[in-house]
Amino acid sequence: MDTEFKSFFDAAPPLRDSLDVSRKVKEFIDQNSQLSGKGRPIRVVCVTSGGTTVPLEQRCVRYIDNFSSGHRGAVSTEYFLKAGYAVIFLYRRGTCQPYCSFLPEDSLLECFDLTEESNVQARPQHTEALKRAIRDHHAAVEEGLLLKLPFTTIFEYLQILQIVAISMRGLGSHGIFYLAAAVSDFYVPWESMEEHKIQSATGPLDMRLAPVPKMLLVLREVWAPTAFCISFKLETDQNILLKKAHMALRKYNMHVVVANELSTRKEEVIVVTSDEEITVHRENQVEEVEKPLIDLLVQKHSAYIEQSKHDSSN
Ligand code: PMT
Repeated sequence: MDTEFKSFFDAAPPLRDSLDVSRKVKEFIDQNSQLSGKGRPIRVVCVTSGGTTVPLEQRCVRYIDNFSSGHRGAVSTEYFLKAGYAVIFLYRRGTCQPYCSFLPEDSLLECFDLTEESNVQARPQHTEALKRAIRDHHAAVEEGLLLKLPFTTIFEYLQILQIVAISMRGLGSHGIFYLAAAVSDFYVPWESMEEHKIQSATGPLDMRLAPVPKMLLVLREVWAPTAFCISFKLETDQNILLKKAHMALRKYNMHVVVANELSTRKEEVIVVTSDEEITVHRENQVEEVEKPLIDLLVQKHSAYIEQSKHDSSN
């Protein structure tokens, strides 16, 4: 591993519960790499979701954050489950969860009433959506197809991603990484971080942020070299979006880069591969852009599995 990556991991605060995370991931993968009922090995996708924080103090009071709501990752998880995948959902604590995007933003309590007998009852306008969400969520959990792993900081995110990626190596081409998390580009290295709360009385704050090593290449080449890798490219300037997506595709050797622009990300994305650019639109107000996106990515993944089989038989 490159010294840049090694020094990031060596200096990072140790992941709490790392043994527990490793055990859960291993059990989930072992259980799901058995043959599925349909007689084919099940496919496993790691969906990353939400933004990573950058702590400014070791006993963290303040941190740098970003806009990501986790909606993309949560809704994509639902469609991957529907397509028969087992999903490792690596998500930022407190962000959007699978099967919850229909809930009112202000309060879950808006969905319910109390009856005269003090029982909880869904309000009629929410009943159908609640039933569907409960049914689908419980089915995914009971069938052992959904493993949720939370992170908050950039340190936790990259350490858990490494555990998951190395554990998924044995799945070969049946594994996918769908990297929708908005990962911090700059951070304060742990060893140069203040231990205690920074005092405001000392005047203006000067702080030097170091670049976070891009883990995409190490994921692709070292951690899980045969998995199908999809990364995202987010820009606010439409004019540079595709150019940057193609650069990322080449530089990090991704199979697919999904390009999106901040303000239109819920309506349209562009799926970029080495030989095509496919624009995917939200088809109507009921279904989300993730539906046609995941349909297309599942097709591309199937083609990748076939190609890998063909390559290994030659
Ligand atoms: O969560 P939502 O509100 O629904 O929004 C969804 C989204 C816009 C966050 C999502 O669609 C998206 O674009 N996610 C990636 C955002 C991002 O970090 O883009 P980037 O261009 O800075 O990074 C490109 C890729 O490199 C990403 O796949 C990221 O996981 C990866 N990366 C980034 C920084 C870093 N230090 N290491 C990385 O591996």
